[in-house]
Order: sequence, then C-alpha cells, then structure tokens
Amino acid sequence: MKKFYIKTFGCQMNVNDSQKMAGILKHLGYEPTTNWEEADVILVNTCSVREKPDQKVLSALGEFKKVKKKNPNAVIGVCGCLAQRAGYELLQKAPYLDMVFGTTNIHHLPQLLDEALKGNKAVEILEEIDERETELDKYPTVRENKYTAYLTVIRGCDKKCTYCIVPYTRGKERSRRLGDILREVKELVDDGVKEIHLLGQNVTAYGKDLGDVKFWELLYAVANVEGVERIRFTTGHPRDLDEDIIKAMADIPQVCEYLHLPIQAGSDRILKAMDRGYTQKEYLEKIELLKKYIPNIALSTDIIVGFPGETYEDYLETIKVLKEVEYDQVFSFKYSPRPGTPAAEMEQTEDPKEISKRLNDLIQLQKEISFKKNLAYENKEVEVLVEEEKDGKLVGRTRTNKLVYFEGRNTLLGKLVLTRITKANRYSLEGVLIK
Ligand code: 5AD
Ligand code: SF4
Repeated sequence: MKKFYIKTFGCQMNVNDSQKMAGILKHLGYEPTTNWEEADVILVNTCSVREKPDQKVLSALGEFKKVKKKNPNAVIGVCGCLAQRAGYELLQKAPYLDMVFGTTNIHHLPQLLDEALKGNKAVEILEEIDERETELDKYPTVRENKYTAYLTVIRGCDKKCTYCIVPYTRGKERSRRLGDILREVKELVDDGVKEIHLLGQNVTAYGKDLGDVKFWELLYAVANVEGVERIRFTTGHPRDLDEDIIKAMADIPQVCEYLHLPIQAGSDRILKAMDRGYTQKEYLEKIELLKKYIPNIALSTDIIVGFPGETYEDYLETIKVLKEVEYDQVFSFKYSPRPGTPAAEMEQTEDPKEISKRLNDLIQLQKEISFKKNLAYENKEVEVLVEEEKDGKLVGRTRTNKLVYFEGRNTLLGKLVLTRITKANRYSLEGVLIK
C-alpha cells in the first residue's frame, strides 16, 4: 500500500485541514506513516502568520527533498497559508515541488495528485474562493484523538486587523450550513467522539453571512445532538462576543468553562492602530460579563509585543491587563511584519532588543500567574475527560482545559471521571481518581 506523510505548521484550522487531507488520501487508498522517508506522498501544510514559520517551512522542505533519492516517484506538495500567499515564490525556491495548492483548493487534492503522478507540476492557487470547497464535507477527518474532534464551522475572516495576513490567506468569511455541521457532529458522536471543538478564524461571527442563524444558536443546536458531552470553540473575537453568546455559554451544560479571547494589546492607541475595533475598557467589560455569568471560567489570550509605534507606556497597559484579568494562559508573540498588510508599512520606532526584553518580562510575569492559577486547583475535585494513556498514566482535560495526569485503568478512556488534584505543576496537574 502507498503511504502518505503530512507535516502541519500553524493553527488548529491547519490541523483540521490536515486531518481532512488525511481523510482524502485514505479514501484514495493511501495509508499514513510517521516516517517521511518511506512516504510516497509528503504534504507540508504551511502557516504564514509570522516570519518564523515561513523559514521553518523552507528548512523542512530541504529535508523532505531527500525522499526522492530513494523514491524518485515520490510526490512532495505544499499547501496552506504560505502556499496561498507565496506559492509561486515557493516553487522558485524549491523547484522539486510537485504540488502547490492554496487554502481553498483542498477539495481538489485528488485531481492535483493525479496530475503530479503523471509527472506534471500541479499548481492551484486561486484568489477567488471556489464555491465547491464544500465538497470537502464528504470526506471524513482522520483524527489523532478518538474522543475529541475539531469541526470547522466557518472559514476565513472579514476583520482587517492591520498586522494580520489571514484575511489574505484564507479569504472572506464563509459559514458552513447548520444542517451540514449537525450531520457531521452526529457522525463524530457515532464514531465515539465526546468533545466537539468548533473551529473558525473568527468563530463568533458564525452565521453572519448566512443571515438566518447566529453563533449562540449553533451552540444550542450542537448541544442538542445526542451524545455530545463537551463543547469548546476557538477563536472568538471580542467584538463579536455578545451577551447572547455569553448567556448561551453559561446556560448550555456541555459548553466548557474556558475561552480564548485574544486582546493583542492593552493600549487604546495601539488597539486603534491594529484596527481591532474595541478599547481596553470595552474588552475588560466583556471579561467582566464572562466572569459574571460563568464565575469559574478559565481564560487565555494572544498578545503581540512591539507593534509599530508601541512605546514603553503602551506596553505597560498590556501588562496592566494581564495582571487584572489573570489569564490561565497567554500566547505572546513579537510583532512580525507581514508583507502586504497595512502594518508592514508602519514605522518601527523601538529597538529590537528592547522589544525582546518586553516580551521576556511579559512571559516571566505570566508564568507566575499561570502557576498561581494551577495551584488553586490543589485539593479540588474536577471532572476530567480521559483522552489517552501516556507513560503508564491516564491523561485528560478539565472543563477549564487543564491537563490532568492520574493513575487508572484504560477502560476509563473516553469517559468523564471525577479526580481530586493532588499537585499543581506549571503546565499540568496531577490527581487521583475518585469516581
Ligand atoms: N506578528 C506577530 N503576531 C501575529 N499574530 C498574527 N499576526 C501577527 C504578526 N504579524 C498573532 C496574533 C494572533 C495569533 C494567532 O498570532 O496574536 O492572535
Ligand atoms: Fe497560520 Fe493564520 Fe494560516 Fe492559521 S490561518 S495557518 S495561524 S496564517
């Protein structure tokens, strides 16, 4: 049997797209391998959100190229956000590539592969979104975990944050039809999935383009599918997160007490330059509302440090927010100019060394806050969905998205159990099984 290997960079959307491509390749009679050297098809699913991932892709390709020494007929393909944005450039830098396709052409993988196998260069990077991308729905996803599943509900993003490449790599917002989503939820549940993780670059905007359904209604509809035990979603935009959504989150038993709500910066001046569409005060009001309706909610966020024009005083506003909100987790990044975005034209006024220092200080501060948050779990009883067995222990997540390690039999896999937390670590919890 022919084998495939997929390397994925970037966000959960990319992970989900890779799972779809694995589904397509399986459908075509290929089987997965964890060793790229024996693969007949290698796919590199790329990210373009910052410069670093760009470079990682090129070095990965340099390695994968060697597959052709042993197997000259092996096909190497690149897809995802970098391919969408700079596919032709990639072809020049890596002329041995056989396939290059964009983020909205995944459903054409069978035809592209066919072309490549004939020895032709298979390239498909469309600026316009292919109406038939929904054909993807007919393929199953190949998941790593049996009990949790990603499910894309909206593709693209209509926001125009000035630093962000995503609207250019993933196009405008396209919500999937509610009926199609619910059918997939049912299939997943029938396949043993307990936790559904709804995905979208801007998931809280779900339904706006359809006109007859809102995100909070989607939450209720998914919860009503029998067998759904937990629901998560990412990523929400503070501007679209309204009281209706927060009320639904509080009201629906399966929606987990956890939210990733990117703030990006604390300073109103920088938020304006980023065109985020909210002020610090407005953002904090949403956090307050979340905490009011869902008192035990865990929160995480994304932060960009060193946006063009960010002064030390602006940076201190970000620090202030971190101290005030006390996020469970913060993903922080140094600003990286993306060619073609408005911010790439803005002047960088600060010294790169100073920006690195700001980022490091922020990471240090957050480390303490995250640890403090974990310590608060000691001696508490929490529900865990047992996801896998690792090094002789069971591992699962709390509703608040904390990893818990504990002893137990593998018959508990896929079950919701109660544990008591005995020890908090920086990035995980240890516990004992109660029931
Ligand atoms: N530079 C640095 N970080 C960025 N992000 C998006 N674009 C950039 C950029 N140009 C970060 C944001 C976003 C996360 C996925 O990546 O914080 O929420
Ligand atoms: Fe990277 Fe953004 Fe594309 Fe996800 S959508 S892979 S974060 S560029």
